[in-house]
Amino acid sequence: MIDARDVRKRFGHNEVLRGVSLRVARGEVVAVIGPSGSGKSTFLRCLNHLETIDSGHVAIEGQTLATTDAQGRCAYVPDAELRRICAKTGMVFQHFNLFPHLTVLQNLIEAPMVVQGVPRAEAVARAETLLDKVGLAAKRNNYPSRLSGGQKQRVAIARALCMQPDIMLFDEPTSALDPELTGEVLRTMRELAEERMTMLVVTHEMGFAREVAHTVAFMDQGELIAARPAREFFADPGHERARAFLEHML
Ligand SMILES: Nc1ncnc2c1ncn2[C@@H]1O[C@H](COP(=O)(O)OP(=O)(O)OP(=O)(O)O)[C@@H](O)[C@H]1O
Ligand SMILES: [Mg+2]
Repeated sequence: MIDARDVRKRFGHNEVLRGVSLRVARGEVVAVIGPSGSGKSTFLRCLNHLETIDSGHVAIEGQTLATTDAQGRCAYVPDAELRRICAKTGMVFQHFNLFPHLTVLQNLIEAPMVVQGVPRAEAVARAETLLDKVGLAAKRNNYPSRLSGGQKQRVAIARALCMQPDIMLFDEPTSALDPELTGEVLRTMRELAEERMTMLVVTHEMGFAREVAHTVAFMDQGELIAARPAREFFADPGHERARAFLEHML
């Protein structure tokens, strides 16, 4: 579903991704962990073109987004194709990014109607199903400011799902939440995983990584050092820096 190879990215002199490679299979849940500044968010953003890569290859469901020739020139596919491929991924951010001037329901139907041209009735039907699924049907006419952080994040997840993505990317979806609110969001994510959604989740929640993720990818200083089955990783991180990080987290 995701094939990233030797992805490199720098901001000025700061080499943020130093040749990151990762493959994600259909239905696989990958937890991306690692210290602050290691490049986790940047890598995620490179997968749906929120950031451009300097070199390497990125393909989503077998369709090339960007590739690099033998001379090291990196090229993206044309815009229309790029949009079509990126529409296969949905993203959820740490800070929800809901539209404050729209109700919960309006937040959900906006993009399907505007971007996908879905008729209003169909968009509303999709939205209602998803709000029900995340347990927020009763909040459909509320504005985001009237919701708790956990509720906002569940709306953000429903909103991403409303675009019917095949892959969900999460960037620290619970980091901005009070501890008592993380559980409800993690539960929603666990349900998605049980439905075999393909998921790439940047997280500091080691419990989630251990219990829900199939694979743990450890990043440090712009490198993806180890991607191993979760059970194996927690038994033996297999790398000194990963071990030190894990000891610090647990
Ligand atoms: N838009 C940007 N412009 C310049 N530098 C950036 C930009 N975005 C990220 N960086 C730098 O890239 C490096 C990696 O940042 P990134 O946000 O990917 O790390 P991270 O692993 O997600 O960290 P955290 O756990 O704190 O979220 C950092 O040194 C950061 O300062
Ligand atoms: Mg980050």
